[in-house]
Amino acid sequence: MSNPTEKVNALIEEINVSNPSDANALEQFRIKYLGSKNIIKPLFAEIRNVPNEEKKSYGQLVNRAKEAAQNKFDRLKLSLSASNNNKTSSKLDLSAPGDPFKIGSPHPITAVMNKISDIFQRIGFTIAENREIEDDWHNFTAMNTPEDHPARDMQDTFYLKDSTEMLLRTHTSSVQSRVMTSSKPPIRIIAPGRVYRNETISARAHCQFHQVEGLYIDENVSFADMKQTLYYYAREMYGEHTKIRLRPSYFPFTEPSAEMDVTCFICDSKGCNVCKYTGWVEVLGCGMVDPAVLENCGIDPDKYSGYAFGMGVERQALLLYKINDIRLLFENDIRFLQQFKSII
Ligand code: DAH
Repeated sequence: MSNPTEKVNALIEEINVSNPSDANALEQFRIKYLGSKNIIKPLFAEIRNVPNEEKKSYGQLVNRAKEAAQNKFDRLKLSLSASNNNKTSSKLDLSAPGDPFKIGSPHPITAVMNKISDIFQRIGFTIAENREIEDDWHNFTAMNTPEDHPARDMQDTFYLKDSTEMLLRTHTSSVQSRVMTSSKPPIRIIAPGRVYRNETISARAHCQFHQVEGLYIDENVSFADMKQTLYYYAREMYGEHTKIRLRPSYFPFTEPSAEMDVTCFICDSKGCNVCKYTGWVEVLGCGMVDPAVLENCGIDPDKYSGYAFGMGVERQALLLYKINDIRLLFENDIRFLQQFKSII
């Protein structure tokens, strides 16, 4: 075990679960945790190796370990002598406090996805979820990406075995076509979910990841509406002083299309390796829904217009929590996941 805080936490856990059941075992317990050469003492000295800003909470934690040992010892001593005095009484100490429950915490991906969804729900978007095994039409064709469209190369696709029709969705934009074909405007949805691409797994890329998609369709929806909504989102997500900029881009399903950058929330735009010393970080793609997409999905483009946006979740989790390898997010190693308890 590497860091001193983890060591103390493990020790507290050890004290909590240990259960000396007779006088002999209790004496061993006392020597180990409370005796003149007890194993808690050296942990106080470890404070040297703890960063300054954590020294106070570290000291408190070690004190807590000491208290836990003392309390346990007092309690067991009392109940042992009570049972010696009265051999007929049960060994069960009904006055003992219960063992603490281990409380879980959301996975960092879930936490980030929930945070994004909450921000949009506050302004009237509702959550739309849909299938991960999708057909070609909803994933590509309806989204203005017919077969042989070069933009299909942007997203290497997993097809189901022996199928040219069924695939693992490559983006949550497929939820757009699902919602548009099954409901009428006004539409305001946010679609968080998992997507898949045939990519080599590395520290920076994975074959499965998460996106959050947004779609707003109504009469007279303008690019200015989109810009203001995304500006609101950026301030809620990254802090009230965040600024945004939209750079022209290309997506088959939006026209015009843009990518949105926000002022770097890691260094406050002073310049760091995350923003590559530009002060800006790219966070999402967006644009006005292409009239062809509306038409494909049975919505009259002469009457309705709308905007859409889509963003990757992993990248934001990596940046916000300073995680340096995307694979950690998929391994479900409890030692990794436990670290997020205090941040979320
Ligand atoms: N689907 C795009 C991707 O996976 C992201 C995206 C860009 C979604 C622009 C949108 C949009 O809805 O308007 O890269």
